[in-house]
Amino acid sequence: MAKIKLTVDGASVSDDVEPRTLLVHYLREQLGKTGTVIGCDTSNCGACTVHLNGRSVKSCNVLAVQADGAEVTTIEGLADTHEGADLHPMQEAFHQCHGLQCGFCTPGMIMQSVDLLNENPTPTEDEIRVGIEGNLCRCTGYQNIIKAVKQASGQSIEEGTR
Ligand code: FES
Ligand code: FES
Repeated sequence: MAKIKLTVDGASVSDDVEPRTLLVHYLREQLGKTGTVIGCDTSNCGACTVHLNGRSVKSCNVLAVQADGAEVTTIEGLADTHEGADLHPMQEAFHQCHGLQCGFCTPGMIMQSVDLLNENPTPTEDEIRVGIEGNLCRCTGYQNIIKAVKQASGQSIEEGTR
């Protein structure tokens, strides 16, 4: 077992984990952060996306020990990063634009989209498509997800959205 100490959604945690434990399993099974979901076993779907020191990562592709000393934000703590609002603006935009159907991809999609806007605050539609290419959605056809990201960036959602 290895000792890890990190911050998750603003709380300091310290635990013993097996060296092979994936971050997503640690979050879900040891911390109960089941808002972060597992959609594949091939590092393809992006459903497990969280922020590690402010950048998006697929948490099924990171070992818990690699997060030792890091700051992790999951979908459950995202709103708290935005001045205590009930919903983060990206969550609000997904809600308003109906950027989800079954919702399974949504936690990861939102975490990835926030990272995208941190890097590029006013992305074009094509840049949004490239920015979320690592996150799969099998319900929506992506149209309303693109609209949500555009709305969250403060851009008109009518102009230019195919
Ligand atoms: Fe991590 Fe699919 S569960 S990429
Ligand atoms: Fe169902 Fe995206 S809303 S997978």
